[in-house]
Amino acid sequence: MGVILVTGGAGYIGSHVVKELLKKGYKVVVLDNLQKGHKKAVLTPYFENVDLKEKNLLKGVFEKYEIDAIMHFAALSTVGESMREPFKYYENNILGGLNLLELMKDHNIKYFIFSSTAAVYGEPQVIPIPEDHPKNPTNVYGSSKLMFEEILNWYDRIYGIKYVSLRYFNAAGADPEGELGEDHRPETHLIPIVLKTALGQREYVEIYGTDYPTPDGTCIRDYIHVVDLAEAHILALEALFDGMSSEIFNLGNERGYSVREVISIAEKVVGQKIPVKEGQRRPGDPAVLIASSNKIKKNLKWKPKFNDLETMISTAWNWMKKHPFGYSE
Ligand code: UFG
Repeated sequence: MGVILVTGGAGYIGSHVVKELLKKGYKVVVLDNLQKGHKKAVLTPYFENVDLKEKNLLKGVFEKYEIDAIMHFAALSTVGESMREPFKYYENNILGGLNLLELMKDHNIKYFIFSSTAAVYGEPQVIPIPEDHPKNPTNVYGSSKLMFEEILNWYDRIYGIKYVSLRYFNAAGADPEGELGEDHRPETHLIPIVLKTALGQREYVEIYGTDYPTPDGTCIRDYIHVVDLAEAHILALEALFDGMSSEIFNLGNERGYSVREVISIAEKVVGQKIPVKEGQRRPGDPAVLIASSNKIKKNLKWKPKFNDLETMISTAWNWMKKHPFGYSE
């Protein structure tokens, strides 16, 4: 069993992936600057508080462990912020990742799993969105992820680093065993905002736009449970170990839920009405984002286990009820 370096392993998706890797018997080293991540979410004893931009410190980590593969989650990921502070996004998401790739080259490490996003597509021209759909990001966050995919392609051609880029749609839910959950500061994602409103920590949920060309006027998204996402990462890694060439896969459930549907399913889960306020559109939000996940189902035999939204929201709710203030109690 190999040693896997997980950057951003203290974050929401990274921490869930670390848990699944540990279950499978891998030795996992987490690298995280704890700017967004939480030390309490790190389930491996091997933890390095290092920023990817600090190349010398990063080098030390590569010298300390015999790393076999890297899963790279450490990145900034708030769409709105990326339009106000583009430099910060390009610096973290591009330079940080390049430092990793250079050290992989120096240490002859050949396998890389990359957290990409549906934001690389921009406004969809067809639904569901296949991987070969045109890429026209409408924000710097999506642009930084798309640029890094291109960089990966060149590092494969030049140095033979094999990668899988996973383009997530909307990650949701929490560890069904209740050990890990979602704790962003500030929180911008719909489901945790809805649940925090149910807990009384917010007065209402603001619906960003009710005049979209969708059946109920609100945006439609494709939600995927974080543990199903985690499984996909491990399948991708093991496929690379078995000799698969570099690939790009979408990860979603090929089914969309509107903002109003999310809220009404959440009301059922929590057993109470959740106050809402209808507001303006949020700039840059496409009306509908639904993945085609055929490719990963076919090539990697990925099979989501928690694909109904009620289950996703229930797992998130279970964690949030026990940890109303996230990891900071
Ligand atoms: N929404 C609201 N009110 C809120 C928060 C969200 O109405 O308080 C709406 C949004 O407008 C959107 C939907 O709920 O229509 C989901 O919003 P999220 O912020 O939860 O998720 P996004 O779809 O905007 O973002 C996700 C990822 C991003 C990624 C993007 C596109 O979090 O990293 O998908 O792939 F860039």
